[in-house]
Amino acid sequence: MSTSLLSAIRPTWLVGDLAACRPLSVAAFMAALAFTLSTGDVLLGQVQCPATSDGEVASTDFFASSELCSMCHSNATQAAALRDGRKRPIGPVDLWRTSMMANSSADPIWRAVVAAEVAARPALRAKIEAKCLRCHTPMASVQADLDKTPISRARFLHGKSTQARLAADGVSCTVCHQIPPEGLGKDDSFSGHFKIGDKGRIFGPHANPFSMPMYRHTGYLPTQSDHVRKSALCAACHTLFTEALGPDGSATGHTLLEQGPYV
Ligand code: HEC
Ligand code: HEC
Ligand code: HEC
Ligand code: HEC
Repeated sequence: MSTSLLSAIRPTWLVGDLAACRPLSVAAFMAALAFTLSTGDVLLGQVQCPATSDGEVASTDFFASSELCSMCHSNATQAAALRDGRKRPIGPVDLWRTSMMANSSADPIWRAVVAAEVAARPALRAKIEAKCLRCHTPMASVQADLDKTPISRARFLHGKSTQARLAADGVSCTVCHQIPPEGLGKDDSFSGHFKIGDKGRIFGPHANPFSMPMYRHTGYLPTQSDHVRKSALCAACHTLFTEALGPDGSATGHTLLEQGPYV
């Protein structure tokens, strides 16, 4: 490996930046670094720091970042129900924060692979980006569909816009909890084609939730529904079909099942 390559990627700068962004594991970082190096300088500079959370809530008519929920659903001095018997934080926000889903857009391996796919077929950039951003930045993607604005890495993965903040929040609370039961488990819901309810309902497993504090503070209404306990909900994103392309980049008409733990 040449010195110029090493100095070009400035490992300390990257480590510092990524550590400042999200609690990514050292293993994940090293894997991404190895991948970046092995794919050559096309990718250098593309594995960048995602929009960081500074505690500010990003919200649209449909979505809000997890900061809004953390006020009540994370560990706090008085919140005994959000700690286990050994005082470890078990609130949904605490459990979610270090998960792959919370980091689905910060994930350096994902960023590197999207960059590699685009580099291999630059003419298909828009299509590839829309596909890959659908599940890895679901709030920003669905909102852009509703607003009829473009879906792109340039808009979603940089800066502090509402879109970038929603994208940085990954597979977040107001995605999973706002997916209504209709169509789940059927082909139309796969590959990230879940629907988002339009009544501000946040579905959960418990009957008769004490809804007033949450509704007052967030405008979302906690609502019991059994579908949140079924795997078909997860299958909307964990079933991924992609279109096969021929050597000239045109669709062959075949689809590939890239992930299918549910089907
Ligand atoms: C239908 C939703 C969906 C779409 C669309 C999607 N992904 Fe994913 N992706 C996932 C899920 C779910 C996982 C986790 C799979 C697992 O570990 O079981 C994942 C994992 C990955 C990983 C592994 C990350 C890691 O750190 O191990 C990479 C890389 C990746 N996706 C790249 C892409 C690329 C590139 C595209 C666009 C071509 C894409 N994804 C489109 C849902 C999706
Ligand atoms: C990947 C989808 C997904 C994401 C993301 C997600 N949840 Fe959940 N959540 C669920 C499911 C599924 C259940 C029901 C689990 C059960 O019944 O065992 C649940 C349960 C809950 C409950 C009921 C808690 C309990 O102990 O019964 C609360 C509150 C909650 N989630 C809040 C949140 C918050 C806040 C966030 C964001 C930090 C979040 N969830 C992110 C899927 C998700
Ligand atoms: C002001 C405090 C507050 C905020 C902020 C808040 N919640 Fe809640 N949440 C509650 C309370 C209180 C309950 C009901 C607890 C009960 O009935 O035992 C609840 C219940 C829930 C449930 C379970 C519903 C059920 O029927 O199982 C989910 C899921 C949930 N909240 C998600 C969220 C999400 C997502 C956010 C962020 C958009 C959020 N909450 C923000 C206070 C809050
Ligand atoms: C909105 C899309 C979406 C939904 C809905 C969803 N996931 Fe995911 N999930 C993802 C993506 C994207 C990743 C990959 C993140 C990465 O590695 O970059 C992922 C990763 C995971 C992982 C980590 C896999 C690994 O190899 O480390 C688990 C576990 C997981 N999801 C479980 C679930 C469960 C259980 C549900 C249903 C309650 C669910 N997911 C619903 C998009 C989703």
